[in-house]
Amino acid sequence: MRSSIQKPLKAKKTRFFRKEAHSLFYASVFKDETKLDINYTPAKLHHRYSQLELLKQYFRHTIERPGRMTQRVIVTGQVGTGKTVLAQHFGRSVLQEAQNRNINLHYIHINCRQNKGSFFLVLQQIVERFHPTFPKRGYSAEELLQILMQILDNENIYLITTLDELESLIQVEGSEPLYKLSRIEETRDKTSRRLSLICILRDQSWLDKLDASTRSTLQSNIINLGPYTKEQLSDVLNDRVVLAFKQGAVSSETITLAAELGGEEGGNARYAIELLWRAGKYADTEKVPEVSPEHIRKAVGSVYAVVRRDEVAALDFHKKLFLLGIARHFQQNRDIHLPMGEAEEAYSIICEEFSEKPRGHTQIWKYVQELASLGVIKAELSASGQRGKTTLIGLPRVSAAELEKELSRALDNAGRGSNYDD
Ligand SMILES: Nc1ncnc2c1ncn2[C@@H]1O[C@H](COP(=O)(O)OP(=O)(O)O)[C@@H](O)[C@H]1O
Ligand SMILES: [Mg+2]
Repeated sequence: MRSSIQKPLKAKKTRFFRKEAHSLFYASVFKDETKLDINYTPAKLHHRYSQLELLKQYFRHTIERPGRMTQRVIVTGQVGTGKTVLAQHFGRSVLQEAQNRNINLHYIHINCRQNKGSFFLVLQQIVERFHPTFPKRGYSAEELLQILMQILDNENIYLITTLDELESLIQVEGSEPLYKLSRIEETRDKTSRRLSLICILRDQSWLDKLDASTRSTLQSNIINLGPYTKEQLSDVLNDRVVLAFKQGAVSSETITLAAELGGEEGGNARYAIELLWRAGKYADTEKVPEVSPEHIRKAVGSVYAVVRRDEVAALDFHKKLFLLGIARHFQQNRDIHLPMGEAEEAYSIICEEFSEKPRGHTQIWKYVQELASLGVIKAELSASGQRGKTTLIGLPRVSAAELEKELSRALDNAGRGSNYDD
């Protein structure tokens, strides 16, 4: 029987598999799911301190000598690199600073995409912050801009407004809105300058779509946010886990795996947070009290189907056996890295089960390379420890249970007859 040959579970790890005992007592792994919402602004901003300081520096004059100077800054960075959260933290801190100095300064954060890239809707949102009952119809964008400036003058307000996901506005309306916004102060014969801008874009190349003069007025102050490293993502995730999950519901291995995946996905904090949330949902569905690395893998599978069924079926016979050993290991253990030696061991147990003679080390090494290049597994060198470097195998993107199911099915169907190599 196949099951009798499976590697025994290590004693300390069996706790996790006793689902039934826990299911009566745990309604959910979450304490407060809303803390994983994309719109939630965390109290602590990690690893963006220098960029926050730079933003403050750019707006120093606006705060120190209000009315004398306004500012325009561009923040760029790929999805999930913290552009929105950076601007929001800046907003909070600039409001505090203005309050301390008794300046009537407001910060308004507007998402252009949520406003369908419409200049009119963007302006309407801003005007409504000051006058919530302002009529929704009857004005053009141009008029709304004039009205906004009038409100600022009449009520002695200084405004810093962030136009988030600005590409959407550029896409729909081209150069004109930004031209008007960046020129408005120059066309007014008022002594006080009131409207400053933070423009958030994923990619600087969007600036090329603007006319030369708008581009040149915007382009001087650019802050670019690079991808987060997995270590940085771990810090971001740790904070969110404490806020969103019950104590002890998410292990450090689970966080590390989500952080690694976020790192590989362009240093994307949003993706890593979403993985945690989905993984929590899987744990709840299974009625277990802990979110495991396997739940993360399921979450990944639910977002991106990495291995297609026919790809698994097409693997050579021994490659399937080798992969089955890896899948079993990750199903039974909580760790996220499997040293090459242990992977070979798992493979030889599977070979025994199928009455097959295991392939040699060189051949297995090739399997690892091929499976890694397919994206099914990940192979990386360990940091050098006492016993030197070894290759570590990971299964970050595929659910081990799903993979095992798929492999077993393929092995049952094909037997060793087809796809037989070397
Ligand atoms: N440095 C950070 N510290 C804490 N949370 C962060 C940090 N960077 C990003 N996040 C969180 O990650 C998610 C994505 O960040 P976000 O600012 O929306 O990225 P972007 O706007 O660049 O797509 C948000 O939930 C945000 O709160
Ligand atoms: Mg954003």
